[in-house]
Amino acid sequence: MPHIKVQTISEDLLDRFVDASSYVNFRADSLNGKDVLFGVTSEGEEFLLQLKRESDSIDMLKYDKITRPLKVKLIKDVIAGIADEMDLKVEQSNLAHSSGKPPLASKYLKKIKDFESVVFPFESVAIEVGFGSGRHLLYQAKMHPQRLHIGIEIHTPSAQQVLRQIDLQGLENIWVVNYDARLLLEMLPSNSCEQIFVHFPVPWDKKPHRRVIGDSFRDEALRVLAPNGRLELRTDSEKYFWYTLETFLDTPSSSVHIEKNRDLAVTSKYEARWKRQEKNIYEVHLASHEYSGTNEKSSKIHFPFGNCRYKEGLEERLPSQALMGSSYFVHIERIYRVADEGLLLRCAFGSFDRPEHKYILIDRAGCRYYASDPVKTYVNFQAHQKIAEYLNV
Ligand SMILES: C[S@@+](CC[C@H](N)C(=O)[O-])C[C@H]1O[C@@H](n2cnc3c(N)ncnc32)[C@H](O)[C@@H]1O
Repeated sequence: MPHIKVQTISEDLLDRFVDASSYVNFRADSLNGKDVLFGVTSEGEEFLLQLKRESDSIDMLKYDKITRPLKVKLIKDVIAGIADEMDLKVEQSNLAHSSGKPPLASKYLKKIKDFESVVFPFESVAIEVGFGSGRHLLYQAKMHPQRLHIGIEIHTPSAQQVLRQIDLQGLENIWVVNYDARLLLEMLPSNSCEQIFVHFPVPWDKKPHRRVIGDSFRDEALRVLAPNGRLELRTDSEKYFWYTLETFLDTPSSSVHIEKNRDLAVTSKYEARWKRQEKNIYEVHLASHEYSGTNEKSSKIHFPFGNCRYKEGLEERLPSQALMGSSYFVHIERIYRVADEGLLLRCAFGSFDRPEHKYILIDRAGCRYYASDPVKTYVNFQAHQKIAEYLNV
């Protein structure tokens, strides 16, 4: 990723960055170290650059992971532009090299943000939760070319492997989302989907709160399914079968159907293993019977900070330890001072499995997420309310 190593920048020169560089809007100094961030703007995009002391004689100017814009070229141009404007003595640079494709680059890879106001350019939609090696997902996509198949997988190498297969097999009707399916479901439009496959989820017998299937997943699935749409759970775990059956039974506007040892046209990697061990395969199907009038949770979610402004001593009132809610957490990881009258907070918050990492900029004029709002999931909203409580005292 783009960076330059330069001869140590003097304090005097650093002080002039904000005034002298056309890219730099503010400088933020960490309260607990030597870390310096620069808030920059280019081509209408805001992001941060980090200045790190490498040694007594060398500083490194590099991109910041959390606010990194999609276009690598933009970061390179800004770093080169600042080096030029500030007359930095560059010792080493990788700006001229191509740093290659980011590991998960593909037009079929979708980010959770892409679903905030999504329109599906296909006749119908099917979802597969936890596709693993992707055999079933790829097979379904080949068999139903008019249908969009959204595969949601939390394990990055599995997502990567399937993206390569999509490319090799020339498929155009799969979207891969490397995220927690429980959170993504909240973002999908109501009544938009014909099928949801949940094949061989991890049973999590000792940590049931990590199971994919639960009351909230069931309710979201019924909202997302079109009338007559169906969720299909397949499992080798008798315990998970009974647990799912209990979770699905007696749910309004739906019906439940069960199967045992039904063969499918394609056998997934896990299924093949259980079949070799002559284990039983159980299924629970949940069919939706009605049009759901409820909107996705995300349409009601916003992240306002009210009248929050920077007040003297705020940095001392912020919690230094992570705060735990039942389904979310908030951790203010690092505090930066911005000029004399503001703070930049680097925060991690939201769900335990897929935390959100964001900066919050607070000054005398107001408070906002820098450079963009969090993903509109309900856990992020709960975490945001907790943060806003602390910032508004
Ligand atoms: C036991 S494997 C089954 C894989 C595949 N369905 C098969 O039948 O071979 C379970 C998969 O679910 C994924 N997974 C677990 N929790 C998930 C979640 N919350 N969201 C998305 N994927 C999840 C795991 O990474 C793993 O790949």
